[in-house]
Order: sequence, then structure tokens, then C-alpha cells
Amino acid sequence: MISLVNIVKDYDGKQMGSRAVDGLNLEIAKGEFVALLGPSGCGKTTTLMMLAGLLKPTSGEIYFKDKLVNHVEPKDRNIGMVFQSYALYPHLTVRDNIAFPLRERKMAKKDAYERAHATSKILQIDHLLDRKPSQLSGGQQQRVAMARALSKDPEILLLDEPMSNLDSRLKLDVRDEIRKIQRKLGVTTIIVTHDQEEALAISDRVAILNGGKIQQYAPPSELFNHPSNLFVGSFLGNPPMNLIDGVVETRGEQQWIKTMLFELEIPQSRRLEEQHMGKEVKLGVRPHDLFITEQPTEAAIKLQIDLIEHLGNGQLIKLTDPAGQSDMMIRLLTDNEKQLKEHETLSVGIRPHKFHLFDMTDEGRNLLQFQ
Ligand SMILES: Nc1ncnc2c1ncn2[C@@H]1O[C@H](COP(=O)(O)OP(=O)(O)OP(=O)(O)O)[C@@H](O)[C@H]1O
Ligand SMILES: [Mg+2]
Repeated sequence: MISLVNIVKDYDGKQMGSRAVDGLNLEIAKGEFVALLGPSGCGKTTTLMMLAGLLKPTSGEIYFKDKLVNHVEPKDRNIGMVFQSYALYPHLTVRDNIAFPLRERKMAKKDAYERAHATSKILQIDHLLDRKPSQLSGGQQQRVAMARALSKDPEILLLDEPMSNLDSRLKLDVRDEIRKIQRKLGVTTIIVTHDQEEALAISDRVAILNGGKIQQYAPPSELFNHPSNLFVGSFLGNPPMNLIDGVVETRGEQQWIKTMLFELEIPQSRRLEEQHMGKEVKLGVRPHDLFITEQPTEAAIKLQIDLIEHLGNGQLIKLTDPAGQSDMMIRLLTDNEKQLKEHETLSVGIRPHKFHLFDMTDEGRNLLQFQ
């Protein structure tokens, strides 16, 4: 197990309040595949470099199993690392690139080559061992970098945006391959990415970072279905979640959310505590949790189609207020079956168990997340 405890990193010359990493706590189980996901500058690479020992935390502790490793040199941490730019040695063959960390450890050439061969077979690049990096495709170079990181049989594999140089099709293949190899070898792996689809697709758990702080650390489906705050809710999902200003209030036995355009009843099973009544909230609804109703009920929201985007496997409908009193724009995702026209007026419903309410007075905490 890896534990990061209260990690803070201030780069030299940085002012207080603009820390790269700000009190980060994270536990990663043996054999787990974890992604660090977040916008540019949120501290992902800095965290990875501290795990590798290439940077020292300003404060806090890093443990591998029960051992404090803050002062353990990178070469003694038994880590394999793949950086964004693969940094293969251009003058060395694939074989020598993969064997390089072993030769550095003074392993005999013959043994190092044998190990390089075995590792290259796992990654299906054993037919390329005599080539130089310039004679390889991007995907092949990426696999050589992986093979080099794996050749010394590391306990921990650290990957920093390893797929960012690949085209989108190859990315899919390579990420499946990384996951397969990781499962086969059982090596604890931490991948840094700003590609949410990639992170959600291959990880056991994802840590979402913003401003050097962890926003939520959970399995992909939980992050998506139960975002703990507004940042996570709005960061994950494509097309993004609709965020609508509202106020929660009690009317008789019922609780309601009132917005500029419509009112929505909160189901009994999702009732909020009384203390939240009267508070401003952001109502978060994912585009696929809105639906078009054929038989409009009283609760249905009347909206006008402003724009239709065809996405291939569905249609993204951008909806506005037909009365033109609010400049709200709401996205709805529907299938291809429906024949819709721009400027048409629709009746729209919100799936009652799918929306979120983010508290605007408490760092955007999701008031419904534990229900
Ligand atoms: N060597 C450095 N000296 C000073 N500040 C730095 C240094 N490296 C990074 N930073 C700052 O620390 C913060 C975190 O940087 P980091 O590289 O960890 O971000 P990241 O999440 O990996 O971003 P990206 O997705 O763009 O790679 C940023 O504000 C960055 O400007
Ligand atoms: Mg980075």
C-alpha cells in the first residue's frame, strides 16, 4: 500500500496560498490502478514526482507499506516511470533502451537482454528489438517506454500522460493494453491524465484534483453518479452537466427547487434537512437525465429548441426559454429516433432520482450525495 499523508508542496519562491499541492491525502492499495485527474496546473505531475522521489514534499509523509520513504532516493524506490515524452535514447536500439535500467544496476549484459526480450514479448514488440526509436510509430515507442519501465520489475508504475502523443484510435488500443498488462503483472499503477474518459475507463479509483487538493477519490461510477461537490459534478461528463440556479423551499409537506424557468419537486426519498431550506443551490442535471415527454404533465418544463447537434449516436439539443425572459441554456441528450426541428417547443422532464443539488454556501457540497 502507498499512503500520502498531508502532503504539501511549495515550489521555491512560491507565495503562500498558491501551493502546487495543498494537504493531499491518498491511499493506494497494492495492485490497484489509480488515476490522478484534474485540470492543467492542479498538481498531478508534482504529486507523481514526489512519489518517484524526484521532488521532496515541503511537508507531509509518503509511505510505501509502512516505511517512510521521504528521504529514500529515487533509484532505491523500485519504481518504473513513463513520462509524457517517452524520452527513449535515440542512439540505442529498442533492446538497449529496455535493458538500460538493468545495465545501470550492473546486471550482466546477457541477463539484461534476456529480461528485455521477455518484457518486450509481453508488450508485443519483440520483433522490434533491433530497431532505433526513430524507426517506430508513436504507439510502438510508447510500448518501448512501458517495457523499459517494467523491465526492472518495479513494485510501482508511475505514468504521466503516457498516451497524450497518440491519435485517438491508437489511444484506445494502448490504454486497453496498459490495463491488461497491469492486471497480468499486478503492479500498483498510478496514471496522471487530464483526459477524463481515459481515467474513468481504465482505473479502479480516480482522484480528482483541483488547486492541489483532492476533491473526491472514488471508483469511476461513483464519481459520475454521486459527485461530492460542484467541481466534480461539472468537471466530469461530456456534454457537461447543466447547472441551474435555484432556491430550495418547503411547501406544506413537500420540498421544492425553484428556478427562473421551472419548479421541481424533491422526491420524499431524497428530502433535505430543514436547515437547507431557503438556501441558494445549483441544480445539476446531466443532459441524458432530461427527457422529452409526449404527454405533458403539469410538472413538465416548456422549452424551445435553439440548436440541434448530431453526435452520431444521439442528438444534443440546446434548449432555451420560449418566453425569452431567461438566458438559460439547457442541454438535453436524446436518441436519433426523434424527428426534431429547431425552434420547436418541447415538454421536458427531469429524472427525479438523477439530479444533484450543490450548496452554494458550502464549497459546492452535494446535498444529495449520501442518499
Ligand atoms: N518547477 C516549478 N517551479 C515552480 N512552479 C512550478 C514548477 N512546476 C510546476 N509548478 C507549478 O505548480 C502547479 C502544479 O503543477 P503540475 O505540473 O503539478 O500540474 P499538472 O496538474 O501536472 O498540470 P498539467 O496537466 O498541465 O501537466 C502549477 O501551478 C505550476 O505552475
Ligand atoms: Mg503535468
